Amino acid sequence: MIEDIVKRLNPLPPKSKLIIFGGGYSGQRIASVGRLLGTKVLCSRRKEKSKGADFIFNMEKEVSNEIFEGVTHVLSCIPPLSSGEDPVLLKLKSQILNLNNLQWVGYLSTTGVYGDTKGNWVNENTSPNPQQKRSIRRFSCEKQWLETKLPVQILRLPGIYGPGRSAFESLLKGTTKMIDKPGQVFSRVHVDDIAGAVLFLINLFSQGKNPTVVNVADNLPTNNLEVLAFAAKIANKSLPSTVPFEIAKKTMSPMALSFWQENRKVDNKLLCKTLGYSLIYPNFKSGLEHCFSKLKINSN
Ligand SMILES: NC(=O)c1ccc[n+]([C@@H]2O[C@H](COP(=O)([O-])OP(=O)(O)OC[C@H]3O[C@@H](n4cnc5c(N)ncnc54)[C@H](OP(=O)(O)O)[C@@H]3O)[C@@H](O)[C@H]2O)c1
Repeated sequence: MIEDIVKRLNPLPPKSKLIIFGGGYSGQRIASVGRLLGTKVLCSRRKEKSKGADFIFNMEKEVSNEIFEGVTHVLSCIPPLSSGEDPVLLKLKSQILNLNNLQWVGYLSTTGVYGDTKGNWVNENTSPNPQQKRSIRRFSCEKQWLETKLPVQILRLPGIYGPGRSAFESLLKGTTKMIDKPGQVFSRVHVDDIAGAVLFLINLFSQGKNPTVVNVADNLPTNNLEVLAFAAKIANKSLPSTVPFEIAKKTMSPMALSFWQENRKVDNKLLCKTLGYSLIYPNFKSGLEHCFSKLKINSN
């Protein structure tokens, strides 16, 4: 329940106003938690009448100056443009630089910037080594934000999952693929922990605990087959046979293939030990149990 996230957090200072560029899956959850903590939050989407669109931000339309009145915190959840430019900075850099009470600027990035470490751990001191084109663009956007000299904090995320975006969707549709690549692990994070960590980090930032880069990942990088087996067990579904990666890769989309070509474990000690964030879903098991409980509620 969203209240479980909220009760772990402190409210932002009175009169805080957070604008979130990219009110998609994570952005909406962060907005809901922020509002329940009493903060004014506005979220952008690209199209008029999209659910949860408080204002429109896209490459065509101008954003009204009214949106920026009293803004104290800015978060971008928008991926890079294919040119490698950051859409928010491309269109709105001068308005953001002119905000006179800006306390924190968050940028949701990806752990893809670390590149392939052949299954070894990466932490915030690991030099980024992006290999995929999209990760090179992402690392460039991180730099674009840092070059603004604003109070920027980069949050690097692994695979995001949560209700409506978990192993259960493919299991229920019967489209699960059991790809077997021994030694391959993926790190992940539940969307509620993204929301929890964002609000937690904003409060710490104002106390001078303000690392520039923070990995937001759970405790247990895991092989995909293990995750699927656990999901199938709780949903009481059978799984298809495994397919060796070398065979599966022949029919994979370039995007899917790019994920399977990198293998790393994301260390969360900075967030969870040094800074003291307590994960709501420390591993895929507790996270999937939560997703399954939401699934049952929604299908009743
Ligand atoms: N999904 C993952 O597993 C994963 C892993 C690591 C990092 N990330 C990154 O973390 C961030 C949040 O992820 P998410 O899965 O919550 O994102 P999401 O649901 O895909 O939402 C992305 C948001 O950005 C907006 N957007 C996309 N391109 C835009 C553009 N060119 N101009 C204006 N708005 C644009 C979308 O607008 P609409 O609402 O109108 O669609 C949406 O609100 C993203 O940057 C994502 O790339 C994702």
